[in-house]
Amino acid sequence: MATTNTASAPADDAMISVEGLNKWYGDFHVLRDIDLSVAKGERIVICGPSGSGKSTLIRCLNHLEEHQQGRIVVDGVTMTQDVKRIEQIRRNVGMVFQHFNLFPHLSVLDNCCISQTWVQKKPRAEAEKTAMEFLERVRIADQAHKYPGQLSGGQQQRVAIARALCMRPEVMLFDEPTSALDPEMIKEVLDVMVELAQDGMTMLCVTHEMGFAKTVADRVIFMDQGQIIEQAPPETFFNHPESDRTKLFLSQILGH
Ligand SMILES: Nc1ncnc2c1ncn2[C@@H]1O[C@H](COP(=O)(O)OP(=O)(O)OP(=O)(O)O)[C@@H](O)[C@H]1O
Ligand SMILES: [Mg+2]
Repeated sequence: MATTNTASAPADDAMISVEGLNKWYGDFHVLRDIDLSVAKGERIVICGPSGSGKSTLIRCLNHLEEHQQGRIVVDGVTMTQDVKRIEQIRRNVGMVFQHFNLFPHLSVLDNCCISQTWVQKKPRAEAEKTAMEFLERVRIADQAHKYPGQLSGGQQQRVAIARALCMRPEVMLFDEPTSALDPEMIKEVLDVMVELAQDGMTMLCVTHEMGFAKTVADRVIFMDQGQIIEQAPPETFFNHPESDRTKLFLSQILGH
């Protein structure tokens, strides 16, 4: 059960630090004794079977889910119930979901401006300038005046990434960002994520795109039944997995 392959980042330059995290949904113990330290600029891929707690873990990091035990510190701010602190943490943490979660009644440009004008209180013109900069970066600036429903899944997901980047977060969390996409659209989203990684963004990404993990991850984390079972750099993780559960999982997703 204990973590065997270890590659924990040093705690002193940690962007995210999780210690002794436990969470329950009612009687169900969904996260068990999670310890995790993520260094600034580190890129982490989290994988594991369905129901193992991957989404719950990353959602705890920006308080979309509440935890009952343990400590979460993001960029020096300790998570508490205090709304101001939660807001402070959320300002630093961008999140991209499986189903994009764009506002359907707002244009692409407005989707990218709304948090800037409402949360950051930026003037509209400045918000638009930032929005266009990031829409450019995800190569979708030409669609700025369309509505999400007029875009393909891959395009919507790139807008969702741009929207998160507009807040200039220190950390980006991705929860299976490509798993709702048709195969031909996966690459355009992964390409944007690879560029983001190469630019030095601290990233935690729940994904089963093992090619992506091999290309950009500094560390792959395998979760099962609410625990971190194993973590290692991709080379070690894929070629020398230690636990039987990791081996079984890899054989299922890699087909050998
Ligand atoms: N709001 C909730 N209330 C009760 N149980 C929940 C809730 N959300 C998730 N769970 C349960 O917690 C467990 C972990 O869920 P979670 O969504 O974190 O898993 P996951 O690893 O992200 O799975 P998947 O790969 O299917 O997305 C599952 O058994 C799930 O049914
Ligand atoms: Mg999930």
